[in-house]
Amino acid sequence: MEEIPVKVAIRVRPLLSKEVLHNHQVCVRLVPNTQQIIIGKDRVFTFDFVFGKNSTQEEVYTVCIKPLLVSLTEGYNATVFAYGQTGSGKTYTIGGGHIASVSEDEKGIIPRAIQELFQHISENHNIDFRVKVSYIEVYKEELRDLLELETSVKDLHIREDEKGNTVCVFCL
Ligand SMILES: Nc1ncnc2c1ncn2[C@@H]1O[C@H](COP(=O)(O)OP(=O)(O)O)[C@@H](O)[C@H]1O
Ligand SMILES: [Mg+2]
Repeated sequence: MEEIPVKVAIRVRPLLSKEVLHNHQVCVRLVPNTQQIIIGKDRVFTFDFVFGKNSTQEEVYTVCIKPLLVSLTEGYNATVFAYGQTGSGKTYTIGGGHIASVSEDEKGIIPRAIQELFQHISENHNIDFRVKVSYIEVYKEELRDLLELETSVKDLHIREDEKGNTVCVFCL
């Protein structure tokens, strides 16, 4: 069977204390020893990876991201993105919060991947690496450059270049 290059992981976050306070109920259950979850009474969904409310940042990184980082250093492309409604845990998982104030255990995907990438670079003196970073938030139709906050959101656009690649361009 042909391998599908897109893998989907689902992570269920625990109820927040304010949710517990308001007596909110958990509506997602994990089916033990499978990659399935049940929503409500009987709606079953299957994913490539399932992480429950007690899953750690380290576990998510090791299972889903580390293998991609290894391929990346071998020259393959890799993309990871978090998708979900507001409050579902994207920022927490991706580790894009206040990284400096977060404990080692709580670090998410970005700081772990960056750390490992530069570790790899420092161990391979015979290879030339070039690392470029951009950090852009997409919210509805607007793009925000998180490394250049003075840039107006109106000046950033997603375009297709002449080769058909999707690129982010700055134009006044
Ligand atoms: N796996 C988790 N364990 C504990 N708290 C979490 C987890 N995922 C999210 N949270 C908390 O839930 C709240 C919403 O998460 P957040 O990452 O900001 O959501 P999003 O970025 O999808 O809007 C935050 O207070 C965050 O700290
Ligand atoms: Mg967020």
